[in-house]
Amino acid sequence: MQCFETVEQLRSYLTEARRRQQSIGLVPTMGALHEGHLSLMRTAAAENDIVVASIFVNPTQFGPQEDLATYPRNLEKDARLAAQAGVTALFHPPVEEVYRSGNATWVEVVGSLTESLCGRSRPGHFRGVTTVVSRLFNIVQPDRAYFGQKDVQQVQVLKRMTQDLFFDIQLRVVPIVRENDGLAMSSRNAYLSDTERQAALILSRSLEEAKRIVKDGERDTAAIEAAVTAFIQKEELAVIDYVELVHPDDLMRREQLEAVGLLALAVRIGKTRLIDNTFLEVP
Ligand code: PAJ
Repeated sequence: MQCFETVEQLRSYLTEARRRQQSIGLVPTMGALHEGHLSLMRTAAAENDIVVASIFVNPTQFGPQEDLATYPRNLEKDARLAAQAGVTALFHPPVEEVYRSGNATWVEVVGSLTESLCGRSRPGHFRGVTTVVSRLFNIVQPDRAYFGQKDVQQVQVLKRMTQDLFFDIQLRVVPIVRENDGLAMSSRNAYLSDTERQAALILSRSLEEAKRIVKDGERDTAAIEAAVTAFIQKEELAVIDYVELVHPDDLMRREQLEAVGLLALAVRIGKTRLIDNTFLEVP
């Protein structure tokens, strides 16, 4: 695996690859790699000749009160794991390489896709994500780019951006990787104390509870959300940011669950904000 810190170096490597007609997969990450990231990398390695993974803690997607300064960073370990997962080029630019002096361009998806769910409590977050991902798309110009279902709203926002800006890139979505007990893997799980780690199980368990309720016949959106909310509130350490059952395409609520819905949650456990989601299918 080769490591690059500048756009210029990475581009000359990619020019060579393209000359050899090799297909290129891109896996954008912020590092502190876990099995969720590695699953994206393995999938990319299976589907492309070369795989570029980026490790870049993107400052523009963090709010002023958020964890940019303390976000876990461990490049050496990440590089080892990425190489084992089949990454051929690791792109780890300094902030000044991506946001150069005089930088004044933003890419923003507007409307319900970015205003709903996480958009409400993290204003500007998705603008930071689309700005950095569009830059990565332009730098790497991959054939395919890989994203996790864990961040389902990010996936929908990036699909919209890719379509609207005519990026000739196939977006591939990889299922959520979970710990054995159900907790969705996340770099932020590292913040949890032992007690909080136990309490965090309430997220995945509440999604299971929702599936059970739907299987038993409940179709009313408000009733499903209320049942999930009550279930989560039984956990003393949990503070709900949102519990919402929306349509998977536009992330808007409907009164009734029809065919398939997306149940999405954001819950604070102590100082750590965790998200999870599942599709709810009408049997
Ligand atoms: P990060 O949180 O590092 O996640 C990188 C990718 O890994 C995202 O596509 C995310 O959805 C996926 N991922 C994280 N946990 C996962 C899990 N448990 N199962 C499956 N996939 C998982 O998401 C970002 O970084 C950033 O917003 C980024 C897209 C890199 C832009 O800065």
